[in-house]
Order: sequence, then structure tokens, then C-alpha cells
Amino acid sequence: MATRKPRVFSGIQPTGGTHIGNYLGAIRNWVDQQDMYESIFCVVDLHAITVPYTADDLRERKLDMAKILFAAGIDPERSILFMQSDVREHSELAWILGTQAMFGELRRMTQFKEKSSGGQERVGVGLFTYPVLQAADIVLYDAEKVPVGEDQKQHLELTRNITIRFNQAFGETFVVPEPDIKELGARIMSLDDPFSKMSKSNPNEGSRIELRDTPDQISKKIRRAVTDSGSEVRYDENEKPAVANLMNIYSLFARCSLDEVEERFAGKGYGDFKRELGELVVEGIKPIQERIVELDDSPDEVMRLIEEGRERAHAIAGPKMEKVRDVTGLTFRA
Ligand code: TYM
Repeated sequence: MATRKPRVFSGIQPTGGTHIGNYLGAIRNWVDQQDMYESIFCVVDLHAITVPYTADDLRERKLDMAKILFAAGIDPERSILFMQSDVREHSELAWILGTQAMFGELRRMTQFKEKSSGGQERVGVGLFTYPVLQAADIVLYDAEKVPVGEDQKQHLELTRNITIRFNQAFGETFVVPEPDIKELGARIMSLDDPFSKMSKSNPNEGSRIELRDTPDQISKKIRRAVTDSGSEVRYDENEKPAVANLMNIYSLFARCSLDEVEERFAGKGYGDFKRELGELVVEGIKPIQERIVELDDSPDEVMRLIEEGRERAHAIAGPKMEKVRDVTGLTFRA
């Protein structure tokens, strides 16, 4: 008898500046695991509007993100890829789940604390309830697993708590999801500071390698990346955090172990290592960049795939939301 594959759901913000942290921490795992799971991926535009933006820019970034994901290997034959705001149930469920989320637990979210560090009086409410919408994204599809980078761990714990609370109040309605955070790649650090994660919001573009960077830009950024004292290419997170980060990136692109990286560069210095790392990253990203160019030439096809994704996502989200309306007493039973 055929058993159903476990379902995964994950999302990414169309913020522009998609970098190798997003790729190695999330996107590549999504691509690699498409045969193991029934996969659903979402470009989370409703999350992206929690910070100032313009409508035209958002439209462009959404399309760009869809192209990046298809180009990276998300296969519309095997996976569902859609735009969050195309499936209205996300907003509706977010409101209902918000009634089960505690003010105190949302206030403790690190991401919210970071983004509101300038003063909470002037922070948008959307930024505060952001994790509730994220919880709605996931449970609307009864996803068992959520492949993400380390920075999403706290949001996933919150999702679990809200879901358990909802199920206790209204009966078993949702699957309680688990995070899928890999040991390697879940936290790619900034090239200019090995103690902060590589991020789209860092004003220094040299801190991250973007999937759209040219080979020259990539080599230059790696050449300029901070290193540690000494010259040996040795993995030591405490003594050599910057080199350890670069070694992680190397091992992930070369799909080899950290021991192998050490062996490969035994007796060589940082200069050789950085040059080869630059070449490796350029080669690793090249096929994605080539496919992006192809997709740039077929906007109609991309729009068709997005529409197909909407239909397939809605076919799951629609009936689920009916059930939620029913158990919460929002509809009259016949
Ligand atoms: P976002 O758009 O910031 O990032 C997308 C994915 O990339 C991972 N990531 C990293 N991984 C390793 N190293 C890094 N330096 C790095 N930076 C980012 C993130 O962990 C993430 O997996 N809130 C989410 C989007 C979201 C979502 C969801 C995710 C909305 N709804 C439902 C999962 C399930 C976010 O802002 O991701």
C-alpha cells in the first residue's frame, strides 16, 4: 500500500538580495528533499509588507523570488510553489490563531526585539504579529516538517505552542509541525563579521554573497572577507570563527566534509583557500544564474506556474479553512 509522504512547508520573503545563507540554509535543502516529501513552498509577500516598501518594487521582488526558486531547482512537477497573498486563507487563519497567541510570547521573539530596537511605540503591529502569520502558513497545510535556517527556530517553537493550544481548545485540528534544521548550513555567518548571521538587511553588501552577484563580485567579496590570526586553514569555531564560516561554505558547495577541506588545504594559506573558494562558489551558483536568465525570457511561463501553484495550494488550504471555521463556531452547522 502506498503511504503518504510527509508534508513539508517553508517560506521565504521576497526582500531582494537573496544570498548564499538563504540558499545553503534553506533553498538547497528544499530542492534536495523534493522526492522525500510532499513539498509546499511559499513566497511570503504578506510578511514582506511589515516593513516600508512600494507596490511596484514588491511586485518585482515577488516575481524575482519565484524565478530564483525555480532556477535553484524547485520543480513545479514535484512541488507546489505559490504566492502567499494569492491564497486568502493565510490572512484569515492568522487572525484566528492570533486569538490563541499570547502578547508576552510574541514580545519575547528575538526577531521582533531586533527589528523594534529603535522603540516599540513606533513599530508596526504587523511586525509584532508576524510570527502568528508564519504559524498560519504552516498549519494551514498540516505540514509535518518545516525546513529552515537556525534563525527561524524560535518562530517554530511559537508555532508549536499556538497549535497545541488551539488543538486543546477546539479539538485536534492541526498537525503540530517540527522544525527541520540541518547541522551544517543552518547558520551562515556574515563575511565581515563571523558573529552575526549573513543577512539581507546588512547595509554592507560585502557582508553577503547574493545569488545574482557576478563572478567578479563574488571573488572580490571572498578576497575581502575577514579572516582570523594565523594562516592555517583549520576548523576551530572558537579560535577561528571567520575561517570556520568560510570552511563551512566550502564544504557545503563542494559537498565534502570539513576534514576533507582541511586536508585539501594542508600547508596552504588563506590566499589559496579564498581563491579556490571563490571559484567554487562561482561554479556552484552559475547554473542557477543561467536558468534565471532563461526564465527572464519567459515571463508568461513563470506567471502560468505561479497561477498553477495558487490553485494547488488553495485546493489544500480551502477545505482546511472550512474545518477551522467549523470547529471555532464561525459557521452554522447544517
Ligand atoms: P527569510 O526570508 O528571512 O529567509 C528564508 C530562509 O533562509 C534562512 N536563512 C539562513 N540560513 C542560514 N544562514 C543564514 N545566514 C540565513 N539567513 C536566512 C532562513 O532561516 C529561512 O529558512 N519568517 C521567514 C519566512 C516565513 C516562513 C514561513 C518560513 C514565513 N512563513 C513558514 C517557514 C515556514 C523568513 O523571514 O525567512
